Amino acid sequence: MKIAVIGTGYVGLVTGTCLAETGNNVTCVDINQQKVEMLRKGESPIYEPGLQTLLHRNIAEGRLSFTSNLSEAVEDAVVIFLALPTPPGGDGSADLSYVLGASRDIALMISSYKVIVTKSTVPVGTADKVKAIFEQYSDIEVAVVSNPEFLREGVAIEDFMKPDRIVIGTTDDRAKKILTELYTPYVRQGNPIIFMDERSSELTKYAANSFLATKISFMNEVANLCERVGANVDMVRLGIGADERIGKRFLFSGIGYGGSCFPKDVQALAKSAEESTYDFKILNAVMEVNAIQKTVLVDKLNKYYNGDLNGKTFALWGLAFKPETDDIREAPALEIIDALLQQGAAVVAYDPEAMPNVKALLGEKVAFADNQYDALSGADALLVLTEWSVFRNPDFARVGALLKSKVIFDGRNLFGLEQMVDHGFYYNSVGRKA
Ligand code: UGA
Repeated sequence: MKIAVIGTGYVGLVTGTCLAETGNNVTCVDINQQKVEMLRKGESPIYEPGLQTLLHRNIAEGRLSFTSNLSEAVEDAVVIFLALPTPPGGDGSADLSYVLGASRDIALMISSYKVIVTKSTVPVGTADKVKAIFEQYSDIEVAVVSNPEFLREGVAIEDFMKPDRIVIGTTDDRAKKILTELYTPYVRQGNPIIFMDERSSELTKYAANSFLATKISFMNEVANLCERVGANVDMVRLGIGADERIGKRFLFSGIGYGGSCFPKDVQALAKSAEESTYDFKILNAVMEVNAIQKTVLVDKLNKYYNGDLNGKTFALWGLAFKPETDDIREAPALEIIDALLQQGAAVVAYDPEAMPNVKALLGEKVAFADNQYDALSGADALLVLTEWSVFRNPDFARVGALLKSKVIFDGRNLFGLEQMVDHGFYYNSVGRKA
């Protein structure tokens, strides 16, 4: 099938590449000429496991191409995916200017029936706005479909190739048939393609992310309570997660959720509820809890050092908002670094992938180490901020010898409490006895 994907950000690039991988002919469009050049050479602008290999293969085999010429991509395409950014506007609601602008451009250039698919996370009612644009600027019949993406960074290829479900919001029978054909290879294990109206589909995406963010904030509050009552959040997590109605996944407490999606989507859903005169109370609490959770670790440091972080040096393991990505958007590490610097502390950081991005943002304010052990030399304490696999089983004797004092503040609960006692560390983690 001939497909155009507009926007080569995270979602667009993974979508285009994975659609090519199952044999479709995909043209990806981006206005950034430099990015297009890079992608043509098979170089991925983001770190995402498995993506580079798929890019190379599908470009070499002629199924995947990149251009900054929109009409070239759109002309022959049957399905056009809009994977454009929807950043938070000044008031927290999603800014639709990229999505609506591209819709108008496309409307002005098409000459045959197209299925226009919104993959970007867009507020309820966007499909109607896109439809109105096509009606205004074109006489050609189109189906405007909402098809939210649920992939996670770090496991994006796997999530796209084997999704738990595919949600398609449309009442157009022709579009339903085309998209069923397109997506059937991805649901061979029997996972559902769920058809619904456009508005329900648009809301599904926000509700899914907001529910997951709620689950995390709930567990972060349970963890904070555990610390006060002498319970262990890991045990509570296992105890509740064994109930299938709750489920084992996404119950890990930590230093607050980050990334490009949860913070933006929770805020946007709260905002759109407010615009519909509905006060979505839980979402407001989720945002508040998350903001507080991002400060908990620094509060603990202040308590430990009697409010005096001035002149201290902290070694940071992990900067990315989660492992297997170089993405630092809304990463809790950034807020922690900011607070430490403000209080006169120095920071030496190591992250397997995210250091270039932090360097571009903070420059010389942070020192970067070549490996996790180099970061420790002469530091007052180690702070674990991202749960990369390489941090899980370090040489504790070496860690202890390099640090000025054997102190670890772990924001991701990577190590066992007894293990830390055995190795002679002061160990402070989340929701467990210090
Ligand atoms: C999230 C959703 O999981 C995807 O389904 C969705 O498609 C995506 O947003 C999106 O809307 O594009 P992502 O942001 O890549 O994916 O990352 P997650 O793995 O969901 O993690 C988000 C944040 O929650 C991270 O900061 C992570 O550390 C935190 N988290 C996650 C926890 O604190 N505890 C957990 O148990 C799980």
